[in-house]
Amino acid sequence: MMKSGLNQFLSLLLLLIPALLRAQTAVIPVETKDHVLLLQEDQQERIRTTYFGSAFTNQSDYQSVASQFHYDDANDGIYNAAYTPSGTWSLTEPAIEVKHADGNSSLELKYQSHTQQKQNDASTETRIVLKDPNYNFQVTLVYKAWAEENVIEQWTEIQHKENGAVMLEKYASADLYFTGDNFYLTSYHGRWAKEMQGKEEKLENGRKIIDSKLGTRAMLLQSPNFILSFDQPASENEGKVILGQLAWSGNFKLDFEVDTYDNLKFLAGINPYNSAYALPANQVFKTPSLIYAISNHGTGEASRGLHRWARKYRVLDGQGERLTLLNNWEATYFDFDEDKITGLFKDAKELGVDMFLLDDGWFANKYPRNSDRSGLGDWQENVKKLPSGIGHLVKEATKEGIKFGIWIEPEMVNPKSELYEQHLDWVIRQPDRPEVYYRNQLVLDLSNPEVQDFVFGVVDKLFTENPQLAFIKWDCNAVIYNAYSVYLAEQEMPQSQLYVDYVKGLYAVLERVRTKYPKVPIMLCSGGGGRGDYEALKYFTEFWPSDDTDPLERIFMQWDYSYFFPSIVTCNHVTDWGKQPIKFRVDVASMGKLGFDIVFSHLSEDEKVFCKQAVKNYDRFKEIIWHGDQYRLVNPHENDFSAVMYVNESKEKAVFFGYFISQRQRLITDKEPIKFNGLNPEKLYTIKEINLFPGKRSPLDSEKVYSGDFLMKAGYNPMINAGRTSVVLEIEERK
Ligand code: GLA
Repeated sequence: MMKSGLNQFLSLLLLLIPALLRAQTAVIPVETKDHVLLLQEDQQERIRTTYFGSAFTNQSDYQSVASQFHYDDANDGIYNAAYTPSGTWSLTEPAIEVKHADGNSSLELKYQSHTQQKQNDASTETRIVLKDPNYNFQVTLVYKAWAEENVIEQWTEIQHKENGAVMLEKYASADLYFTGDNFYLTSYHGRWAKEMQGKEEKLENGRKIIDSKLGTRAMLLQSPNFILSFDQPASENEGKVILGQLAWSGNFKLDFEVDTYDNLKFLAGINPYNSAYALPANQVFKTPSLIYAISNHGTGEASRGLHRWARKYRVLDGQGERLTLLNNWEATYFDFDEDKITGLFKDAKELGVDMFLLDDGWFANKYPRNSDRSGLGDWQENVKKLPSGIGHLVKEATKEGIKFGIWIEPEMVNPKSELYEQHLDWVIRQPDRPEVYYRNQLVLDLSNPEVQDFVFGVVDKLFTENPQLAFIKWDCNAVIYNAYSVYLAEQEMPQSQLYVDYVKGLYAVLERVRTKYPKVPIMLCSGGGGRGDYEALKYFTEFWPSDDTDPLERIFMQWDYSYFFPSIVTCNHVTDWGKQPIKFRVDVASMGKLGFDIVFSHLSEDEKVFCKQAVKNYDRFKEIIWHGDQYRLVNPHENDFSAVMYVNESKEKAVFFGYFISQRQRLITDKEPIKFNGLNPEKLYTIKEINLFPGKRSPLDSEKVYSGDFLMKAGYNPMINAGRTSVVLEIEERK
């Protein structure tokens, strides 16, 4: 009797322990230096977002926030749930929808536990475990906060121990909630050669959705980058903003909903469109990251935080060097041979760049790659064009004193290729429907491990055979039409996994490439900006923002990309696009990673002299562009001028770029100064105009000394006008 009485008492105690522990509900602040995302457990053991804003002076005050809100959740669910489940109590847009192994579609997520731990990468990681009381199913919300940069990266990890696979029908990365009255969203839209066209709008009640369904890339038509501004339209130096992106190289969905309390619910994740995923027991499904920087002082500070974070913690070799280059794409297209290419090495050498990049057209024999209609997939040197092979080119370039890089597009195939003939089952296509092409090509099925081996093999072979190969331009032009995988069918896995497994397969290949070749610079190109994302940039050193290299257009595009990416990752090439003089083209391309894609020998002597000097100047100031802070000074969308400057960390050196962009040339003059930013008010500076075209003299006095205070308050007039359409200034502390 005694024993059973004791047992009963112990069982009761065990039952009571969670309740006793819960007497105080969990309060979980995810903090950066200046901000906090506050998550709190409610009486039903659900986690809610109760605050997102400036950090409190006293941490003990966090406890009191929830009691200040009295939402009536009776008939509409809870809008501020930190990860809204579906099929139970919430009728708002869910973050997650599942079908359990037994076919039931209801989900409840209750708080279990959480941990907060400092990581080696200077971040603090918060992990919150939520569990369904009825099913052995759990979701971990993960938040990594970098205090110094005010950057948060968040994702979720889903796992279960059910009796069979659980179908994940929707699985967002983030479910955020912002209180306030007015929200302004800048989203980005575009098409080939017209990427990153920003539109700002005030969000009204209802849902605004930005998404993509392209399969192989996130961007082209819409972009996973966003700026959210609170209370007022986004501005550069004031106001609360968050800006960032969903870091995923495939289909994404951003969902902004102003709810009935006029607050904003923001869901971000993989696009659930045709993407139900069968998750076996005991495996973890990790969603991609939502990454954002927060500032109370406008987009400028937020971007600089994100840039610093990207360089230090995210982009491959973000704090390293990059190679300037001469590319042959627009110079030759597919029409070249060994002599033509080795001839161009001399141009690269004379120009003073670090490397020559051989573009498309060097491979395939049965169906030679002489146009974009054939040969893709057959990665053997074309013996007619390059009888002595790539190895010979690498040697010749090395003799010339420059490095050698090469273009590949290993995920794609032309139907006119040996690869297509031999491995039709590797190609994504509906077996019984007509094929649909994008740039005459189809996509290889990266969900298939054999295809992953093949793609890895293309890169591996190049490096193994040519250890001195210094660079790769990895292209990805096609999108996925007719989504169907022979491999998934054979494995009896759902076809709806293809979009996700494609991207996962790509990352698996990149992981292998980087394990074997950790540092070689690789540029990510995707027919214009399609793959500029922070998951891919773990493996790539830089990306190609757009095929549109018209410098006038680039002033806008580079401005818009710069909200999200540091200049070290954006490749800017001088080409023959647009009508601007060579000086204008080189100046614009210098605001990033500089390259040339022109026939150097066709330039006039003065133009050659200018380019060679500009490359030397770039070599002198590139450190500031690559690793310094960027200040956007004059917005091209709102003015007849545009200006950007970069300042190094010690604030001893800066570079300024200013452009005249008006079409109504005669009416616009250079009456007013431009206010500089980022300098030290106490320091004294001299300002020297550089990148002058031969024969031109600068009207600016390079001897005069200005205080940083003056330059940032009164400003400086660089005399940008119709006769001086692009001006580059080197600013140096006078010691
Ligand atoms: C894409 C790229 C170009 C060039 C071609 C080659 O369009 O954006 O820079 O490499 O492919 O086919």
